[in-house]
Amino acid sequence: MEKGYEVYGMYRRSSVETFGRIDHIKDKINLICADLTDQSSLNETVKTVGPDEVYNLAAQSFVPASWTQPTLTGSVTALGVTRILEAIRHVNPKIKFYQASSSEMFGKVLETPQTEKTPFYPRSPYGVSKVYAFWMTKNYRESYDMFCANGILFNHESERRGKQFVTRKITDSVARIKLGLQKELALGNLDARRDWGHARDYVEAMWLMLQHSKSDDFVIATGETHSVKEFCEVAFDHVGLNYEDHVKTDPKFLRPAEVDLLVGDPSKAKKDLGWEPKIKFKELVKIMVDSDLEKCKKELR
Ligand code: GDD
Repeated sequence: MEKGYEVYGMYRRSSVETFGRIDHIKDKINLICADLTDQSSLNETVKTVGPDEVYNLAAQSFVPASWTQPTLTGSVTALGVTRILEAIRHVNPKIKFYQASSSEMFGKVLETPQTEKTPFYPRSPYGVSKVYAFWMTKNYRESYDMFCANGILFNHESERRGKQFVTRKITDSVARIKLGLQKELALGNLDARRDWGHARDYVEAMWLMLQHSKSDDFVIATGETHSVKEFCEVAFDHVGLNYEDHVKTDPKFLRPAEVDLLVGDPSKAKKDLGWEPKIKFKELVKIMVDSDLEKCKKELR
């Protein structure tokens, strides 16, 4: 919106509205109800809106849920992308398309750091679905000469992240523990390492990809990797607590197959798009903890 776009957001029908995270801008955007599992609703949406650019950030995006709902994950996260591509191809193949591809595609990594050339080895039904969607996006680029870009985004977080994901689960608990609302935090694998950046920086990269002279695939990452344990250390330390006094592990949060280490090399994005992340790891953790402290204090009041 700051760039002067007229923005349309697509949402799924539900018996209860879940627009909490866009309350502050809801009146300034246009919302259209459609579903990635329903081809005709996508065709109609693309026809009605007549967009110049489509950003697909929709998915069943929680990795653990992809083992309990593997075919739903495939239908939404994988085939949903083909449905959007088909809608674009039939309505107006000149529309530019961005696909939110994921570092989860690297899974059991075959080289470190991971680049656009690193082969994929997905470790969950979610990762497998994202690999399919990646290749379909590339395939439509090559088959139909459509502008289809893949952003291979490493974990990007913010104060608006869902509380099931590890970063927000930690920062929300840190705030609650600090304010005496909670005593312990149960986590799974503390040794998993991720390349965590701030969503604000990464969204800028998505837009840059669609302004580039040609459609391509780009790794978007910070180039730094940190463990879940380190995230805990920094988050608890920020409010003067020691994570070892509060964090325990619970096997129910372990995954059937884990992605142990992710760290991306964003050199290509830097060279071709002039993109660089601005927010570093420690700052990200502090932004999230401070925001959760504020939210919890408000709740208490
Ligand atoms: N969620 C969660 N909960 N993860 C935990 C926990 C816990 O209690 N304890 C340890 N972890 C570990 C997970 O095992 C994983 O290795 C790591 O923390 C990160 O987990 P998530 O925050 O759930 O994110 P993710 O890496 O699985 O997936 C996210 O990033 C991908 C990009 O690489 C999601 O946003 C995906 O949709 C995205 O594609």
